[in-house]
Amino acid sequence: MKIAVRYFTRSGNTEKLAKAIAEAVGTQALTTDEPLKEDVDILFLGSSVYAYGVDDNIKKFISDIDVKVGRVVNFSTAALIKSTYKQVAKLLKEKNIAFASEEFYCKGSFGPMHKGKPDADDIKAAAEFARKVVEG
Ligand SMILES: Cc1cc2nc3c(=O)[nH]c(=O)nc-3n(C[C@H](O)[C@H](O)[C@H](O)COP(=O)(O)O)c2cc1C
Repeated sequence: MKIAVRYFTRSGNTEKLAKAIAEAVGTQALTTDEPLKEDVDILFLGSSVYAYGVDDNIKKFISDIDVKVGRVVNFSTAALIKSTYKQVAKLLKEKNIAFASEEFYCKGSFGPMHKGKPDADDIKAAAEFARKVVEG
């Protein structure tokens, strides 16, 4: 099974999850600056929100996808909202790319809010989540 991990991060929170997920499923965590170069069965895509929207890098990465993606599995951090699931699902729907109903989300530190998040437990949970997704 071919698996890819892509993420966008500004302050490193989502990157922590991306690295844990990639390690758990035996691949590399790359940023959304690296377009997909070959078809994949599962794409773990990590994002967060900045003023209620996902970053333009995520929008561009999705818009530029020109390979076959079996399904996208969302993971995200945010301070206030529950996850980026809805925003990312909308972008993928516009591209007719399948989107898994399962996702991973945890709080991400933002100024004085949620200090230390994602923490060790979140990172462990993200890795566990990824293993379960891949094992089906
Ligand atoms: C400029 C800016 C705007 C943000 N706006 C929101 C927001 O509207 N809602 C929210 O839940 N979190 C918001 N956050 C918090 C981030 O989503 C949170 O810190 C996230 O974990 C950042 O992930 P990253 O470190 O991977 O970039 C904002 C953070 C920044 C820096």
